[in-house]
Amino acid sequence: MTRHFLLCTLLVTAPAVAQTVNVNLVAAPGTATVAPGVTVNAWLYNGAMPGPALRVTQGQTLRVRFRNDLPEPTAIHWHGQPIQLGMDGVPDISRPPIAPGQEFVYELTDLVPGTYWFHPHAHGMQLDAGLASFLVVDPANPGTDPSYDVEQTIMLDEWTNPLGGGFTGHLLNGKSSAGQAPIVVQSGQRLRLRILNASAVTSYVLALDGHPMTVTHTDGNRVRPVTVQALPIGMGERYDVIVDCSNPGVWSLAAADITNRNATLVRGVIQYAGQNQPAPAPGYVPPNLATGSLLSYAQLAAFHPVAPITPAPNRTYTATLGMGMGPGGMVHTINGQSWPNVTPFQVTTGDQVQMTIANTGMPMMPEYHPMHIHGHFFRLMGTAGGTAQPPLKDTILIRPAGQAGSSVQVQMTMDNPGRWVFHCHNMEHLATGMMTLVEYGGDADGDGVASRIDYEPESATPVTTISGTAAAFAPGALGSVAVQWTAGQSVALFAGLAELSTPLAFPPYGTLILDPASASLFGTTTSNAGSLANVPYAIPSDPNLIGLRIGFQSVGLSALPGGFRLGTFQAMTIR
Ligand code: C2O
Ligand code: CU
Repeated sequence: MTRHFLLCTLLVTAPAVAQTVNVNLVAAPGTATVAPGVTVNAWLYNGAMPGPALRVTQGQTLRVRFRNDLPEPTAIHWHGQPIQLGMDGVPDISRPPIAPGQEFVYELTDLVPGTYWFHPHAHGMQLDAGLASFLVVDPANPGTDPSYDVEQTIMLDEWTNPLGGGFTGHLLNGKSSAGQAPIVVQSGQRLRLRILNASAVTSYVLALDGHPMTVTHTDGNRVRPVTVQALPIGMGERYDVIVDCSNPGVWSLAAADITNRNATLVRGVIQYAGQNQPAPAPGYVPPNLATGSLLSYAQLAAFHPVAPITPAPNRTYTATLGMGMGPGGMVHTINGQSWPNVTPFQVTTGDQVQMTIANTGMPMMPEYHPMHIHGHFFRLMGTAGGTAQPPLKDTILIRPAGQAGSSVQVQMTMDNPGRWVFHCHNMEHLATGMMTLVEYGGDADGDGVASRIDYEPESATPVTTISGTAAAFAPGALGSVAVQWTAGQSVALFAGLAELSTPLAFPPYGTLILDPASASLFGTTTSNAGSLANVPYAIPSDPNLIGLRIGFQSVGLSALPGGFRLGTFQAMTIR
């Protein structure tokens, strides 16, 4: 009886979905057709622009096996998801970037529901070249989402031809206005649009002719519904809106630059089934785009309970956004400093941090700064949510100096140890230095590697990394495998040709991934004062070795219980 009851309980509580979703992703040069007969050179995820939309349900692990076939190093940032630092995809902060021809497995756990996206980080203008797509996480309990009948992702972007080709202009879902296939709806449906501004330098206003939009989420987080005629959206921001399809016709979903609402830069087409009139002209400016009521941050309030705004934050900081002259010309600054010469904001796990973000740029050069924090959400102060229901966002569009909204206040709960970038999502401002760090004190996992520099601050694991430079993997190359581990402790590095098909977890020692049957000791060394153990190698200069893939896993001695820890797995391929 008891056993029967237990069995039933297990069956009832067993999740209905697979716990791990496996995806293969390759970044490589290719071409994209942005309008009939108009092809551009691009860098693409899985050959598509936008790349494939990834979708999982909250509670699932997303395992992305990623290969870099670009001619330069890259890494994938999962914008907005408060994941662990080592998977965050910021070169040399999360870990070294992925060299051309090499691979990395992103293991994303504890994903939060909503509309997110992924793109490369801080390597020149890769994002500009077409590398971007959606990561949508459905809530485990669908009842926590608003109801809708159909949905569509909308990615806005500008195309500046970084790799040559015959098109300059703005894109919606990778196409110019001339390339748009209509989004077909039925009268009476509720249409959910998941809207992303993936552009490098343009803040947009978006409106759907003939229809108001009800904003239900910002940056993945649900808000109390607000109905507006037009939506301002900064680079990196997302809004989910619901449209009541109650006005049959063929309508323009039009985007303008935030600084000029009287010119449509790109438009999509929403077509009610059975309505066969021609699509609106690409240059047509819907009245609500030009003059309709705009969403303001002040209208937003969190829908679900969130941590309230505290009157007594543990730390209070100001981030003053500006410009200055650097040795190489104009720089963008936060508190007068320009990346990489920055003084990090110091925090401690558990802190409530309050920050004022203020644009003090020159009024004659009005600049918008979409400020983005990694690994955390801002709680936006001074909104309809008051102190009890502040909206959560990961990117906040700071208005030009002197305008309303040029200074905002936020609070953040510091609950994700590590070293996190805080930067402007305008890629030109980022490239000219508008980035700084939020740095945790202490050693969250007690592994002797300070959280401030630990690639995996919350798991006491030696982290095995390979070079971010293609030259380190050529026949004849000299290189080293680096293991980040407690200073002064010895590290043994094992190499082999095969991975276990099912990794074996040995808590608290770690997880065995390298197949011991194929592995042998590659070298031993001791971590230096910087907590790095380097195990050098020399690849024989034999072209027949090209294509050989070697897996590495380390074992680090430790004062932690049990005396050692298994390192992370990393493979390299001779190219
Ligand atoms: Cu979407 Cu640090 O970036
Ligand atoms: Cu900026």
